Amino acid sequence: MMNKTIAVIGSSRRNGNTGKLIDLIAADLKIDVIDLTTKNISPYDYDHQNIGDDYLLLMDHLLKFENIIFVSPVYWYSMSAQMKIFIDRMSDLLALEELKDRGRKLRTKTGYVVSTSISEQVEDSFIDSFKNTFAYLGMNYGGFIHVDCKDGFKPESCRSDVEDFVNKFK
Ligand SMILES: Cc1cc2nc3c(=O)[nH]c(=O)nc-3n(C[C@H](O)[C@H](O)[C@H](O)COP(=O)(O)O)c2cc1C
Repeated sequence: MMNKTIAVIGSSRRNGNTGKLIDLIAADLKIDVIDLTTKNISPYDYDHQNIGDDYLLLMDHLLKFENIIFVSPVYWYSMSAQMKIFIDRMSDLLALEELKDRGRKLRTKTGYVVSTSISEQVEDSFIDSFKNTFAYLGMNYGGFIHVDCKDGFKPESCRSDVEDFVNKFK
């Protein structure tokens, strides 16, 4: 049976703290992790001149899954710029008549958030931007894992949180 879950990461380094965290989760769940930095996705364009870039291709792939894990470090109290550009493009699915079916498909999906920062707690501004976006798009919110990487990513220090997170999918 096909896996029901997929992860999308937007970080300025694929193998940094956030990348290591999602790799741990992905290895356990046996899911793919798509790196937004390998895609050509440009910022939102009101004229949709960029509709032929990688955004729709990526979205069509993601829509095959029930659960979408959004993976981002906290950069300045917010999601990474790579993730923000990707999220902004969701507006394509609401703005263009021919894409509205795809937008409506999101209502059957559940979104999760995986983050790292150098703080114990994730800022409300960070997590709320995802929660509110999911709510606006009609997606369910499945939960999040946040790992403090003040001293770098230490798998042993987040083992039980990772276990709790992956159990949501089992
Ligand atoms: C541009 C930038 C902005 C950051 N802003 C914050 C922040 O607002 N709050 C915080 O706790 N950590 C902040 N950090 C630290 C990162 O969130 C932390 O090191 C994270 O684990 C990096 O993940 P990465 O290796 O995937 O980039 C920032 C780091 C960078 C590079």
